[in-house]
Amino acid sequence: MKKALALVLALVMVLGLAACGGGNETQQPSGGGTPAPATTPDGNSGGGEVANKDKPLVWFNRQPSNSSTGELDMDALNFNGSTYYVGFDANQGAELQGQMILDYITAHIDEIDRNGDGIIGYVLAIGDIGHNDSIARTRGVRKALDTAVEEGGVIKSDAVGVNADGSATAVKDGKLTINGKEYTVRELASQEMKNSAGATWDAATAGNTIGTWVSTFGDQIDIVASNNDGMGMAMFNAWSKENNVPTFGYDANADAVAAIAEGYGGTISQHADVQAYLTLRVLRNALDGVDIDTGIGTADDAGNVLSADVFKYVESERSYYALNVAVTADNYNDFLDATKPYAPVANQLDTSAHPTKNVWLNIYNSADNFLSATYQPLLQNYDDLLNLNVEYIGGDGQTEANITNRLGNPSQYDAFAINMVKTDNSASYTALLNQ
Ligand code: BGC
Ligand code: CA
Repeated sequence: MKKALALVLALVMVLGLAACGGGNETQQPSGGGTPAPATTPDGNSGGGEVANKDKPLVWFNRQPSNSSTGELDMDALNFNGSTYYVGFDANQGAELQGQMILDYITAHIDEIDRNGDGIIGYVLAIGDIGHNDSIARTRGVRKALDTAVEEGGVIKSDAVGVNADGSATAVKDGKLTINGKEYTVRELASQEMKNSAGATWDAATAGNTIGTWVSTFGDQIDIVASNNDGMGMAMFNAWSKENNVPTFGYDANADAVAAIAEGYGGTISQHADVQAYLTLRVLRNALDGVDIDTGIGTADDAGNVLSADVFKYVESERSYYALNVAVTADNYNDFLDATKPYAPVANQLDTSAHPTKNVWLNIYNSADNFLSATYQPLLQNYDDLLNLNVEYIGGDGQTEANITNRLGNPSQYDAFAINMVKTDNSASYTALLNQ
């Protein structure tokens, strides 16, 4: 009897706390904590009771950071005790991409130099010179091909424009010794693929640019490298497929994986199936008020769990990072279905224990190949499994306001998932939640 009374009292206290979450400025930034559930006391969703600033928030794909220095924006990452970032390990993936290209060159050394001038020439499509993922990939390719130039201990990631004679200062001519013979590698050209309206990672721009590069360099181009598959496939379709020039991207979008059968050189899977899960899972856990590791490193009540070889969590950065895998002619058959939920975390949650909640989520650019063709379809599969009612907003890729204008009433939602246009712009969103 006494026990029951104590339980009721405890419950009343918990609900009371959740209801006045508004006054709670400094929730603990701890990964293992149990944040107050963002529900109304009657357990229903749509909670006007929890202040918007205390609701679970996940940044994904674009990590809050300074676009010039790459420094993480810890204020945004610690916005409240239920704030996280979900992305992937950019450096590990970038190294893999560089290695994949180097392995290809090594395996095809006898035919790679198309004009036989002793120089292996490549062109590089850069996504966004201020985006950490893009910077890492540019560096990864340059490092593996020995064209990297360091400044202050870091590899330069600037675009060179055109580098016909090897005199560019952001890169150098690399030297590779393969089967006892030395080859020169030159980054003939590189450019940020930004369209006139300002959208970055722009596939159409890459498709046009390859034409310009070909008219300048012709058969000096032996390899086409790209910071992502959207741009890589645009170049492949516009030119390299027909000319049998190996083209390498990143993301393992379904069309790119399928193109490996037609000569696309390879791509990197950033395990979008794991990232999309984590994006919604951290919100689910915060909303349920359970340990954040539930269904992640620790199996949940439905048996969902991730193994340590597919993700890592860095507590000091409040960030989950999926790990990457190279996808080449050797293994592409396993990656053809890019939008299939990852089997170890594809179990349906029970609605009685995990009632439906409303989530606002935006994709920064509805024209981004990776986000719209791979990531969003995955999110749409997981939202059902996790009982989340997600409203998807697609941005124009250029202005934050185009997206924030559509978050008119944050009080309608229980949690938020944000994909910024620019990694510096977290405040455009947090300002709306602080109101
Ligand atoms: C992806 C790109 C995408 C970019 C958008 C990157 O992680 O690899 O394909 O365009 O995110 O932010
Ligand atoms: Ca050559």
